[in-house]
Amino acid sequence: MTTSADDPSASTRCAPIVTVPDGAIDARIWQPPPQDLVLAPGDVHVWRIELDLPGVDVAALNALVLAPDERLRVARFRRPIDGVRFCVARARLRQVLARYAGCAPGDVAFVVDDLGKPHLATGIDRADGLATADLAFNLSHSGGLALVAVARGCRVGVDVETGRGHNDLAAIAVRYFSPVEQTYLAGQSADGWRDAFFTLWTAKEAYTKAIGAGLSAGFTRFDVDVHADGSLSLGGTIADADDTSTGAWSVRRLTPGPGYCGALAVDRPSPSLACWRWTA
Ligand SMILES: CC(C)(COP(=O)(O)OP(=O)(O)OC[C@H]1O[C@@H](n2cnc3c(N)ncnc32)[C@H](O)[C@@H]1OP(=O)(O)O)[C@@H](O)C(=O)NCCC(=O)NCCS
Repeated sequence: MTTSADDPSASTRCAPIVTVPDGAIDARIWQPPPQDLVLAPGDVHVWRIELDLPGVDVAALNALVLAPDERLRVARFRRPIDGVRFCVARARLRQVLARYAGCAPGDVAFVVDDLGKPHLATGIDRADGLATADLAFNLSHSGGLALVAVARGCRVGVDVETGRGHNDLAAIAVRYFSPVEQTYLAGQSADGWRDAFFTLWTAKEAYTKAIGAGLSAGFTRFDVDVHADGSLSLGGTIADADDTSTGAWSVRRLTPGPGYCGALAVDRPSPSLACWRWTA
């Protein structure tokens, strides 16, 4: 498959933007994207990208879409499957962002801030003059899946986890979860514990990725609260400028597919969310 054929704008049907209430996100709402994507202030688009699809011309993505530093990272992975997944995730990230920025995927440029969070470099020149400086994004990948969140004029973080390959979840919970979260986990049945763990974990990761701090943020200094209807909210104070208790932030579960758990955090109380699936 070539990079141009991979562009979903070439062959997808139109789908309405779906505003999804908390707790109701389901794999059924991952829609093919419309030809003309509109991302207004307060909108958040999350893209679901499969990394192990057969028939993808990974060599072409590597050569034609990635930047030289990204190709170096591909080459450094010990396991070939990890290099392939990184390559596809980066190429799709570029292709997704190019649709909003109005440029070629290879012309998407990143800058990394002091905390290590990548942002779009400004100065992409687009013919219609739409601003790209306020485009924000975040990427997460786990196993064979990646999620890309794109927003305008707000901070956004996303996380996805397969839940496979971790046998020490109880120890992680003790180390990284707040007392409120540990109490919530202690109330779970044996069957529900793992799901509850990843609900909390992905929400915490999404929030700390939104503020750019990642694990260094101090995971025990804020709470993810799980409400009776399954919706999530943040509590506690993680940084002077980011008092989560003010309600300025929202965090939502994402259900990207069987075996995966995901979450999205946005510094808006009620963002309008649309979920797209990459349809190459
Ligand atoms: C960045 C971090 C949040 C990644 O989390 P993860 O669950 O392992 O990985 P994810 O797939 O969800 O996210 C990775 C993507 O997030 C983005 N990212 C990198 N640093 C980021 C940051 N500080 N904030 C937000 N996003 C970041 C990148 O796009 C990255 O993609 P890449 O791997 O293709 O470069 C995590 O490594 C972290 O907390 N780093 C901070 C440094 C730190 O505290 N190190 C001590 C570890 S004990």
